Amino acid sequence: MCGIVGILGKAAVATQVVDALKRLEYRGYDSAGVATLENGRLTRCRAEGKLRNLELKLSEAPLTGAIGIGHTRWATHGRPNEVNAHPHATAKLAVVHNGIIENFRELKRELEAKGVVFETETDTEVVAQLVTDALQEGRTPLEAVGTTLPRLRGAFALAFLFEGEADQLIGARHGAPLAIGHGDGEMYLGSDALALAPFTDQVTYLEDGDWAVLTRAGVTIRDAGGHPVERPRQTIPTGSFIASKGNHRHFMAKEIYEQPEVVGRTIAHYVDFAAGRACPPDLPFSFRDLRRLSISACGTAYYAGLVAKYWFERLARLPVEIDVASEFRYREAPLDPGELTIVVSQSGETADTLASLRYAKSQGQHVLSIVNVTTSTIARESGALAPTLAGPEIGVASTKAFTCQLAVLLSLAIAAGRQRGVLDEAEERRLVDALVGVPGLMSEALRGEAEIELLAREIAKAKDVLYLGRGTSFPLALEGALKLKEISYIHAEGYAAGELKHGPIALIDDAMPVIVIAPSDAVFEKTVSNMQEVAARGGRILLVTDRRGAAEAAMDTFGTVVMPDCDPVVSPLVYAVAIQLLAYHTAVFMGKDVDQPRNLAKSVTVE
Ligand code: F6R
Repeated sequence: MCGIVGILGKAAVATQVVDALKRLEYRGYDSAGVATLENGRLTRCRAEGKLRNLELKLSEAPLTGAIGIGHTRWATHGRPNEVNAHPHATAKLAVVHNGIIENFRELKRELEAKGVVFETETDTEVVAQLVTDALQEGRTPLEAVGTTLPRLRGAFALAFLFEGEADQLIGARHGAPLAIGHGDGEMYLGSDALALAPFTDQVTYLEDGDWAVLTRAGVTIRDAGGHPVERPRQTIPTGSFIASKGNHRHFMAKEIYEQPEVVGRTIAHYVDFAAGRACPPDLPFSFRDLRRLSISACGTAYYAGLVAKYWFERLARLPVEIDVASEFRYREAPLDPGELTIVVSQSGETADTLASLRYAKSQGQHVLSIVNVTTSTIARESGALAPTLAGPEIGVASTKAFTCQLAVLLSLAIAAGRQRGVLDEAEERRLVDALVGVPGLMSEALRGEAEIELLAREIAKAKDVLYLGRGTSFPLALEGALKLKEISYIHAEGYAAGELKHGPIALIDDAMPVIVIAPSDAVFEKTVSNMQEVAARGGRILLVTDRRGAAEAAMDTFGTVVMPDCDPVVSPLVYAVAIQLLAYHTAVFMGKDVDQPRNLAKSVTVE
């Protein structure tokens, strides 16, 4: 979602601000802007669309100030045009904002009654006008921000630059992340440490409700009550900053190819290969004592949780309830104290997932989070943390984070099965061996890329695509459909294969490819029957299976992707590679912006 950058520098900062914004591009945006102070006067430049449009405008009319703020905007209130782009400014200040001010209409009415005229349709301008109003009443910038923040409802991060204040930036965080970077006689603000990586590896994360006054000499942080507080300064390992495409055309391709390595790294963290044991992180509970497990997440992370439901129920006989976080947070599910909720999130900042976590905590539950960004809010607020070691995921469509989430969840399900006495030592070893074999199988699956690329040309002709699967291949069918629609904009649906005849079979014709994910597992025969139903109605099938499955299905398909043989328990990790490559090549063939699909944001910090 929106990206925020602020720099107190020694020379003109506009170029640095734009460079830092580029590192936040992966979050998704549709307009961008920068404001600086020149001789104490606010100057600003904004542009609709990509950062190159902003750069073009800046090259024609450079901003020269040594203090500045910048923003990439993902529209929530108001169209993604230049007028609504940030920074928003009044005669007194400029402000950039990530998130939503929920009570902006009420505040706007109050200001309009005082005669304030608004230029934009955004909630952000209300913040600019509220602080301006306080300044006009004679308050200092510090006091004006201090009186405004408690009036704002919602989840947001803000950065302010004031007319005439060449050595002061103010940042605030309430629900959306904000980090402070410490330089040598320079200071920085950013939505995440990745944005600040070219300038510093010394970072302080604001806590929820904190606001901070930055000068070139340092930072003073206050909590929501206005009391000065200390927050630790951390050295961010340089490895977490690596954000280049390497030899790949897109981040998504790079991240698909990284999977054998990062999934291997993640598995190594959670299993003792020599002993053949799953080793969960230190947990403040035992799986043995649980009667029910709840899982909550959004999008791809939710599908990882859905796969895990099959694993926990089968391997650990632990009943699992799973829901998308946007529903979980509001449906007031009865959660028993002392039981466990697992939240899954790549970014660790997804607003709905964070709200689910807080709800589960409020019900006295243990919360275990599976996150990729270990400095994120979700990671910090969870009672227990199980990190995925995927490294920064830049492509908006989640790939390597998904398979790393699966690796963590499977290792936890195995550990749970052992603790609950469902699995014996030999079964645990067999499952751990299967998990340890995954990186090699993924490498093998990647070797099928050329064939998948050819099949993608067929998929690219379709207007609609159906994905089918049973058992753990059902969530994978949902994930396959999500991947395809988000980057190629082809309409796709995932269905449990057995549900076909309860409705979707009416859609079958020779124009809609049906992608069947069917490893030769215990439900393979059933899925083959469903394929026959499709074939009998003239449907065109693309089968993703293994050698045995391909031989046994013996069906007229327009393509068969043969995956390496694997233990059915790990097939979701291995088959994920094929469905990712298929979506990727379809979108590339269609000329779509694979890494930054329209309307999407990497980190969804609003509801
Ligand atoms: C799809 C995708 C999204 C995310 C979802 C949750 O490819 O990336 O569906 O999975 O927005 O995001 P996180 O995992 O950051 O909570």
